[in-house]
Amino acid sequence: MTWKKICDVGDLAVNTAKLFDVEGVNVLVTNYGSGFRAIPPVCPHMEEPLDESGIVANCVLTCSKHLWAWDLRTLGMLGETEKPLKVYETRQEDGALFVNMVEELVYDFESEDEFDDDFFSQS
Ligand code: FES
Repeated sequence: MTWKKICDVGDLAVNTAKLFDVEGVNVLVTNYGSGFRAIPPVCPHMEEPLDESGIVANCVLTCSKHLWAWDLRTLGMLGETEKPLKVYETRQEDGALFVNMVEELVYDFESEDEFDDDFFSQS
């Protein structure tokens, strides 16, 4: 475990998401009112930067690009959302917010390169 201080709890307004550099790793921290979530900075759908396209309201994070959404209290997927959020463990101590940086969390994005070109070639 490697607990790193991200910010003071009061630095992050309710219903906001802010990007932090934690020893070279970008972490997006959301304050959803009754708690905090620290997550990778991009949407698990198509890598949209969530500090720009993420909307936090009513304890829900919504990516405004294609409206995937997650309940930040339960991490449940809402609506048409097909991938769960990955989350870093967080804790509060003496008014500060800490994140447990064990390793950088990243999503698997399917690449067109994975197609076998030979499959489509005609001989
Ligand atoms: S990129 Fe976020 S929902 Fe599609």
